[in-house]
Amino acid sequence: FSRLGTCELAREIVVFAETASTNDSAMQRGRQGAEGGIVIFAERQTAGRGRFGRAWASAPYRGLWFSMLMRPDLPPSAWPRLTTWAAVSLASTIENSLGLPVSIKWPNDIYLSGRKIAGILAESGADVNGRPFAVVGIGVNVNQSQAEFPPELATKAASLSMITGRLIDRPTLAAHLLRELGTRFPQILADFPAMIAAARRRSLLLGHWVQVQSGHNILEGRAEELDPDGQLLLRRSDGTLSRLSAGEVTIIPS
Ligand code: BTN
Repeated sequence: FSRLGTCELAREIVVFAETASTNDSAMQRGRQGAEGGIVIFAERQTAGRGRFGRAWASAPYRGLWFSMLMRPDLPPSAWPRLTTWAAVSLASTIENSLGLPVSIKWPNDIYLSGRKIAGILAESGADVNGRPFAVVGIGVNVNQSQAEFPPELATKAASLSMITGRLIDRPTLAAHLLRELGTRFPQILADFPAMIAAARRRSLLLGHWVQVQSGHNILEGRAEELDPDGQLLLRRSDGTLSRLSAGEVTIIPS
């Protein structure tokens, strides 16, 4: 990882041999008042976290496990856009690196050949002076073999190398990804509709009948559109539209 160049998003790049969770490490730096632009990678996470408090299997030396500490100069209403930004940047980097089409399962899961190959965990907090920060955590399954996934993920998750049949150079992929994230960042404010269009084009859900669990609520409907802020518009069977900002989505087979 020593070859990774720095940029505004990544003024400082930290590579831990081991940490509990790179999101936890970045949240801690944020709470302590560190400026944005710190990217924390770990070769091994002992308590990697996914969304909804789930564990994230992070096989040592096999993936890209990293988190970006950010103090984005964006209005608070635009912070939820960070997930779309990360998802589109991940999808286009993997497509450009492998030449294979990548899908986005709203809001934050990245799929290749029907298997989840990456996920995003965006969180936020404030330091002692009340200054807000965001942490965008990214996990990419790069070089694991099937046997390195927990049995319950056997049919759901995969690594890039399982799908392409070759080992992938992780630092090169990380460098491409950071460059893509940096290039696309201004689009969050300057042209978010273009980013939504890029997410829509790769959407795994639009047009499908889905079930969305959001907190204690479970809603069913047709995934109809992404709205201009990246929220999912669900057409219920009674014809009404529900707008969802997050949730766990399952496609209901027709
Ligand atoms: C999900 O799909 O539920 C989100 C997974 C996010 C995993 C990454 S790995 C690096 C960072 N550190 C964590 O503990 N989680 C994120």
